[in-house]
Amino acid sequence: MRGLPFFCLASASLYALVAMSLGVYMAASHDHVLAPAHAHLNLVGWVSVALYGLYYHAMPAVAETRLAKIHVAAATLGVLLLAPGIALAVLGITEGVAAIGSLVTILSMLLFVAVVFTNRAKAA
Ligand code: HEM
Ligand code: HEM
Repeated sequence: MRGLPFFCLASASLYALVAMSLGVYMAASHDHVLAPAHAHLNLVGWVSVALYGLYYHAMPAVAETRLAKIHVAAATLGVLLLAPGIALAVLGITEGVAAIGSLVTILSMLLFVAVVFTNRAKAA
């Protein structure tokens, strides 16, 4: 596996490793205040980005398009802003990073909708 599918699955597995480490820390410390950051790093990071990787692995011609690369760049930026941003928000430091991360994450999903619909005629 190379290219966009590899990038997605490699980054998704690293998100999972960090999120699970945070989960173990929360369980061990009995301090669950960062649970929303853990949940979203797992779901928007690990689960969603791994699904993108599997989609692009199944659709190699689509993975070569500029729109696909812009989509994955936006999804990556979204995860990297949203998960730490939620942590900053629940710790009462700032909500700004989570707000920007939310918008970038929604934009990335809009791009994925465009990728899926514009390439619906391509064979898997
Ligand atoms: C080593 C693995 C993991 C550990 C030790 C762990 C630990 C935890 C802990 C301690 C909480 C807080 C529970 C609470 O306050 O009620 C939590 C919440 C959560 N975890 Fe994990 N977790 C792990 C993996 C995962 C994975 C792989 C996912 C998803 C793919 C996940 C999704 C969630 C979600 C969605 C919540 C929020 C639940 C809620 O607020 O109701 N976790 N986890
Ligand atoms: C733009 C992206 C997203 C934003 C801004 C967002 C925001 C939020 C907010 C504000 C909450 C309530 C947290 C709380 O009450 O502590 C929440 C909970 C939750 N979200 Fe999201 N979310 C996003 C994407 C997603 C996605 C894509 C998934 C799943 C694939 C997801 C799964 C969950 C789950 C399981 C909970 C309940 C667990 C918890 O309270 O921590 N979210 N989300």
